[in-house]
Amino acid sequence: MTPVFRQVIGHFTSGVVVITAVQDEVPYGMTVSAVCSLSLDPPMLLACLNTASRTQEAVRRSGLFAVNILGEQQGELAERFARPGDRFAGLRTDPGRTGVPLLPGALATVECRVAETVSAGTHRVFLAEVVHAEAAGGSPLAYFRGRFGKFEPAQDAQAYRTVRRLVLDRLLAPGEPVGVEPLADRLGVPPSSVYYALTRLVGDRLVRLDARLGHVVAPLDAATSDDTHDAKLAIELGAAALVAGRLSAEQLASLRSLAVAAASHVRDGRFTDVDGYIRDNHAFHRYLVDATGVRALADAYEHLSLPDVMARALPPGSGADPHLVRDHFELVDALERADLPAVRRVLTAHNEHAKATQRAGIRASVAPP
Ligand SMILES: Cc1cc2nc3c(=O)[nH]c(=O)nc-3n(C[C@H](O)[C@H](O)[C@H](O)COP(=O)(O)O)c2cc1C
Repeated sequence: MTPVFRQVIGHFTSGVVVITAVQDEVPYGMTVSAVCSLSLDPPMLLACLNTASRTQEAVRRSGLFAVNILGEQQGELAERFARPGDRFAGLRTDPGRTGVPLLPGALATVECRVAETVSAGTHRVFLAEVVHAEAAGGSPLAYFRGRFGKFEPAQDAQAYRTVRRLVLDRLLAPGEPVGVEPLADRLGVPPSSVYYALTRLVGDRLVRLDARLGHVVAPLDAATSDDTHDAKLAIELGAAALVAGRLSAEQLASLRSLAVAAASHVRDGRFTDVDGYIRDNHAFHRYLVDATGVRALADAYEHLSLPDVMARALPPGSGADPHLVRDHFELVDALERADLPAVRRVLTAHNEHAKATQRAGIRASVAPP
């Protein structure tokens, strides 16, 4: 039951704190997620500490502790305070009002005096009265399924999706500077959400930060598109070497039906539904990579953001190299025959056809007919 419970309860997202205490002038501290507010009047909180922990023992003996709520940049501190070793080495601390060391840079600190303890299982629950509380502001460090992460307010996440769509649909034109305030007005969201969205889009390479103009929609050039496709090819060749001759009849049938779906969006050398093609083409290519069962390969493939690169090069109604669709079926045929040299040949030729289609789209958008 224990491993199952650990795995299931890991789905509960929490913040992360470091509980500090002092006993006989020796500072103690440990990373804790099991902290929660208990009462407002009087202000109280509770913390669940393993009875085997040294910090727990210091809290029990001294009757005092501080909760240092960690910010999103403090994952390293959270790891340090869960590892063996001198956790305070080289770390500046401030003495709190209760004499307990406080970690500067924390999002907030709450100093507490233990009022009651309850023993339960491996842990001791400390019910404590708040002596002093202070918040510095910022974003919290989050903990979910054994990993640290960030908390993303829903409004920021929505703004990111909206601005991303505007860039991909070219409603914000490539090369165009994007003012935070005007865009916030246009979208009816706070400027901080637009700023957050643009910062993430810089990471996605859809927007760049220009020293003079500020945020600018990054134009897609042929070299970037070619590079991305060549990286895709390298991953696919590796994936093909791993799966050729090992795909089941069911997997081959699934791959063929994905090829059919992609083909349904192309007629007479043009995309009838570019978004549909990009989606189904991506699913087709992802299938081969996923079939390797190598997670890192699938992550690397996803990291290329092929659908974005395609969406930026191919406006609605773009021309499609006639080989694109045929290549998909030839690839499935070659996989069915477990003919690795043929698989390699088709993948390489397909990459050239995809690059040519992209280049034509990029040329047309620079000099519309
Ligand atoms: C993210 C995270 C959350 C943790 N939460 C708790 C907790 O709620 N209670 C607890 O007793 N230990 C928790 N731990 C484990 C302690 O930090 C760890 O056992 C620590 O080494 C105890 O240190 P000490 O024996 O020096 O006091 C957590 C560890 C991590 C990384």
